[in-house]
Amino acid sequence: MTTRILTGITTTGTPHLGNFAGAIGPAIRASQQPGVDSFYFLADYHALIKCDDPQRIQRSRLEIAATWLAGGLDPDKVTFYRQSDIPEIPELTWLLTCVAGKGLLNRAHAYKASVDKNLENGEDPDAGVSMGLFSYPVLMAADILMFNAHRVPVGRDQVQHVEMARDIGQRFNHLFGQGKEFFTLPEAVIEESVATLPGLDGRKMSKSYDNTIPLFASAKDMKDAISRIVTDSRAPGEAKDPDTSHLFTLFQAFATPAQAQTLRDDLLQGLGWGEAKQRLFQLLDGQLAAPRERYHELLARPADLEDILLAGAAKARRTATPFLEQLREAVGLRSFRNIVQAAPEVAKKAAKSARFVSFREQDGSFRFRLLAADGEQLLLSRTFADGKSAGAVSKRLQQGGEADVRVEGLGFSLWLEGEAVAEGPTFADAQARDAAIARLRAALQPVEA
Ligand code: TRP
Repeated sequence: MTTRILTGITTTGTPHLGNFAGAIGPAIRASQQPGVDSFYFLADYHALIKCDDPQRIQRSRLEIAATWLAGGLDPDKVTFYRQSDIPEIPELTWLLTCVAGKGLLNRAHAYKASVDKNLENGEDPDAGVSMGLFSYPVLMAADILMFNAHRVPVGRDQVQHVEMARDIGQRFNHLFGQGKEFFTLPEAVIEESVATLPGLDGRKMSKSYDNTIPLFASAKDMKDAISRIVTDSRAPGEAKDPDTSHLFTLFQAFATPAQAQTLRDDLLQGLGWGEAKQRLFQLLDGQLAAPRERYHELLARPADLEDILLAGAAKARRTATPFLEQLREAVGLRSFRNIVQAAPEVAKKAAKSARFVSFREQDGSFRFRLLAADGEQLLLSRTFADGKSAGAVSKRLQQGGEADVRVEGLGFSLWLEGEAVAEGPTFADAQARDAAIARLRAALQPVEA
């Protein structure tokens, strides 16, 4: 069975080396494995929750799209799209909002943190909290459940959100599934390495600590950042401990075991920090120069990026559109065309006045027709070898047997216990056909004596 892997990236910033090593790189490699079907998307609706700077949103969407493609993501192999190009996502968000408990969302860490901070400052608990922030986990649940993802790679801070997606999906299944599991319940997959790639000062590399190494900016920017990596004050010639050096940790994250061993030995032998930084730069530049070039090429052709993402959205919608159709059905947002039971009086009348008429073909076989009160032929049966079997079938239909109407092009057929027993006329369009099916259903209502 294929495993569906899905993850979103909030488009509020520019990816740095830590994002690449911890999340983007591993996700691209995972997408190249056999037996996986990957969905990667730009969570730009989520970005609006945190950022009201349109320029920054737009810039970040572009840079993140280019980063993934430059890193080797193959848009033909995966489904790569912008969340905001899938109108089914906000629609599903609403269906899920209606089953998500407010109490559940009250417990979301991000919302609770805002409330706690407000209380500490003596403010209204909900000061500055938008409904977007409050409902953030429901939108994320829609992202995940829309595509029935099995596995969702995320950072630690997002695990609770994936668990909420499970809760909400389960509740929807229970309320509307009628024994059918609409939604697959997802599992969070934590990328341990995200937490461990250190930044310039040794803390986790993160934009909020301002300790990042830029990814694709320019070789010079990368070199400048590396020169600012904090080290101890041991001079060249003095032995250095690789295990307490985050410069070494950074090097190790990108090096082969043999390369790491060489640097380890050389540091123990007294290699200077300046020299070690130079080696880290060379290692990173060796790996990033080619994707950096692709990145800048992609940024120079934004219209091509647009095409790639729109094609990705079309692909995603081939799943999302029919699935949402089923979900709408399930909650009761259904077409009026096929309604008959809703008007019992009319249905009863139709049933009472419809009649089965049997007749004999020239070749001696038997058939029957079902005629509406006005004489319209609703059904013509197949041929039967004898009048008795024809009669048995029409009797079963009359008694409201398990008749199953199946649309076939612009016509339809009627099945009884897995066998086609009769068919309707062919119509000029689907609307006329559906109206006739509704009349047939009405005519087949069991009539109480
Ligand atoms: N909230 C996630 C983050 O900030 C991004 C995201 C949005 C996401 N929708 C998702 C991640 C669905 C995984 C699945 O990191």
